[in-house]
Amino acid sequence: MRIIAITVSVFLLASCVHTPEETTPATTGNGGGNGGGGNETDCDPNLVYFTNTIQPLIQSRCAQPECHDQASLQDGVGMFDYNSIMQQVAAGNPGASDLWEAITEDDPDKIMPPAGEAPLTAEEINLITTWIQQGAQNNACTSDCDPTAFTFTTTIQPIIQTHCQGCHSGNNPSAGLSLTNYSQIQTIALDGSLIHSVNATGGFTLMPYQSNALSDCKKQQLQSWVDAGAPNN
Ligand code: HEC
Repeated sequence: MRIIAITVSVFLLASCVHTPEETTPATTGNGGGNGGGGNETDCDPNLVYFTNTIQPLIQSRCAQPECHDQASLQDGVGMFDYNSIMQQVAAGNPGASDLWEAITEDDPDKIMPPAGEAPLTAEEINLITTWIQQGAQNNACTSDCDPTAFTFTTTIQPIIQTHCQGCHSGNNPSAGLSLTNYSQIQTIALDGSLIHSVNATGGFTLMPYQSNALSDCKKQQLQSWVDAGAPNN
């Protein structure tokens, strides 16, 4: 696997010799990356928000250990916060963005995430595309997370998909733990490691790894689902 990953990296490097377009950031941003925009507004269904959607997606799909996390910086590319992501993005122009090129690449040797990792879904690509088109802002909104909702299909699975699957899927999942189907997720729910890992309790490392903790609302949803016996509903 490692050899393939290195080969892919070399190809990617070769394909990225041009310098990214100079861009004018659409917002002033707020430097820190983690945490995102300070003044949150109600979510506009027509907008794709960095903090709510793009950051967790990119962080879990691209910033795994040995990929584009702060420590590894494969090909010099970081994908761990707003500023590092923006070095691969031309705000308003997906076609001029190296990030967009990498995720829509036709060549299976060059596409990101690389072979062996779960590919981005059409919907995920669409979200990233729309966010870039809308100016690639460092924006956030108050989501309509309902702390009393906790069915597997509509609530739990989407949380795991957005925040966990990037690392816990594919041929070489982090910690040897794959979280791509109900029974795998049920297992960590029932043995306690799901709740421990999102709270960094019981000696578990905080999950998502090297990222912001889940919101209190999402943690509550997971807790309620586990308390109910982790049903497949
Ligand atoms: C950026 C990559 C990444 C993301 C995203 C991520 N994990 Fe992890 N996960 C890891 C790594 C790396 C380890 C091993 C950490 C360690 O041992 O210190 C790990 C370990 C774990 C473990 C412990 C496994 C064991 O047997 O010890 C659990 C449980 C876990 N993750 C659950 C989750 C959940 C739930 C999410 C989403 C809320 C998540 N992870 C998101 C990388 C990630």
